Amino acid sequence: MHRLVVIPGDGIGREVVPVAVEILEALLPGLQTREADAGWDCFQRQGCAVPEATFDALRECGAGLFGAVSSPSHRVPGYRSAILQLRQGLRLGTSLRPVRSWPSLSSRPGVDLIILRENSEGLYSGREHLEAEGVAIAERVVTREACLALAHRAQDVAKARHARRITLVHKANVLPLTCGLFRDTCREVLEGEGWASELDERLVDVAALQLVEQPEAFDLIVTTNLFGDILPDLACHWSGGLGLAPSLNWGEGIALAEPVHGSAPDIVGSGRANPLGAILSTALLLRYHWQEPVLAQRLEGAVESFLWEEGRADFGFETTRVVGQGILAAL
Ligand code: NAD
Ligand code: IPM
Ligand code: MN
Repeated sequence: MHRLVVIPGDGIGREVVPVAVEILEALLPGLQTREADAGWDCFQRQGCAVPEATFDALRECGAGLFGAVSSPSHRVPGYRSAILQLRQGLRLGTSLRPVRSWPSLSSRPGVDLIILRENSEGLYSGREHLEAEGVAIAERVVTREACLALAHRAQDVAKARHARRITLVHKANVLPLTCGLFRDTCREVLEGEGWASELDERLVDVAALQLVEQPEAFDLIVTTNLFGDILPDLACHWSGGLGLAPSLNWGEGIALAEPVHGSAPDIVGSGRANPLGAILSTALLLRYHWQEPVLAQRLEGAVESFLWEEGRADFGFETTRVVGQGILAAL
């Protein structure tokens, strides 16, 4: 029995999530869903971005699909991004962000990589303060515990995909303590598990350049929280853009699927939102959390044949509807 907490959130999250749920229900006829609230809108209505009932539902069901949140870029007393609260509160310590070429959309055919992002600490520690007028400080927290959890997840993913290369991406030349602890802990685990000859490392600036110049050279990238926020957005250019980028927030016995994109206020209500990021995020839930690789493959196969046939994923003001119907038909 599969149970899913559905959290549309803000903006286009409310447009793409129902489409992804309809498709997942077609694949998993016994799926039980329940809707929960979170986000900026929720904060304005209830004074709280993630109600306790949402945490409870996710802990109970063990799986969720999250649409998007809007977050103001200035400080709002009492507000912290809903997705950050969920990642930290539910100990979703890894974010899995694959980037691959899709038919008709990618300008390069051979890209197929996964970025594993530490998902709970680093510069996302929430520890930021004004020390004095004109002096703002953010604390970057790196713990051995979180690096161990990430490295063990990396080992699982590397094993499942027979990784030919694992690249640790960091900036240990400038941040020898935080990035050094990250690098050394990941090395210890992965070398201990027999991956020494596939293991490699890159400084983040050079990694960014190489992701542009030769993305095919990467297979599995393991990195810290902020670098793992930036690099997938850069790399997903090769897959056909942000509208197609999926992710999985992944903990022990609990996972929250989430398209990489945000609430896209510039297109909300226009029908232009691409639901593929949300749809492909549910494929990650199937493959990595529910251990249903055959269903995951069926879903990704349906996306592939839809894209072959249509040759595009942008149908103007009918994108959300046409893409959703097209994937359902391809299934
Ligand atoms: P965004 O991802 O919302 O949009 C960036 C650009 O990509 C926009 O032009 C948008 O129209 C386009 N786009 C995004 N998703 C698309 C889709 N599915 N189909 C077609 N086009 C798509 O990023 P932003 O504009 O920088 O941020 C808007 C808000 O979203 C901010 O409040 C930000 O904090 C939030 N945000 C949330 C998440 C999340 O919930 N995980 C991620 C990123 C940004
Ligand atoms: C993402 C988003 C989030 C992040 C924001 C909305 C807090 O950009 O999931 O990539 O920075 O992690
Ligand atoms: Mn991001």
